[in-house]
Amino acid sequence: MNILMVCLGNICRSPLAEGILQFKLSRLSADRGERKKSKKHVVDSAGTAAYHVGELPDKRSIAVAKKYGIDLTTQRARKFTEADFDAFDLIFAMDASNYQNILNLATTENHRQKVHLILDELQLSTHKEVPDPYYGGEQGFENVFQLLDKSCGVIATKIDTL
Ligand code: 4NP
Repeated sequence: MNILMVCLGNICRSPLAEGILQFKLSRLSADRGERKKSKKHVVDSAGTAAYHVGELPDKRSIAVAKKYGIDLTTQRARKFTEADFDAFDLIFAMDASNYQNILNLATTENHRQKVHLILDELQLSTHKEVPDPYYGGEQGFENVFQLLDKSCGVIATKIDTL
């Protein structure tokens, strides 16, 4: 299963979502005693805007991930492209604006059906969107981490059995 996480800049939220889901999937496979190299799933991330293409994740995302044992420093920002609709099975948008931007590029029903809001996995009545932490402080990044940790936990359990 190939999973793509998408936000606006691909430097704050979606790199965290990529790192967290990857971490949870490798944990689950290690728990079963599988060898590290045998990867069943591909996890990647992208942004709907090109402002930060080629850059490392934001320092504050790198720091909060590191605190929980996850390394984001091998990631570089890239822009979401139409080719991603064929390359990925599931595409998770961080907020409603990202979701709409992705859908605007979809040309088939099959493409549209791959796109989901990541927090819908949690089935909450509040918190439908992962807030953009870019202009805020460290606490915003901790909050984003916790929201993504919960939703990636649900996603990892679902796709691990596939
Ligand atoms: P992200 O956060 O979409 O979570 O990566 C942002 C990063 C950069 C900008 C906006 C949001 N920006 O306007 O440059």
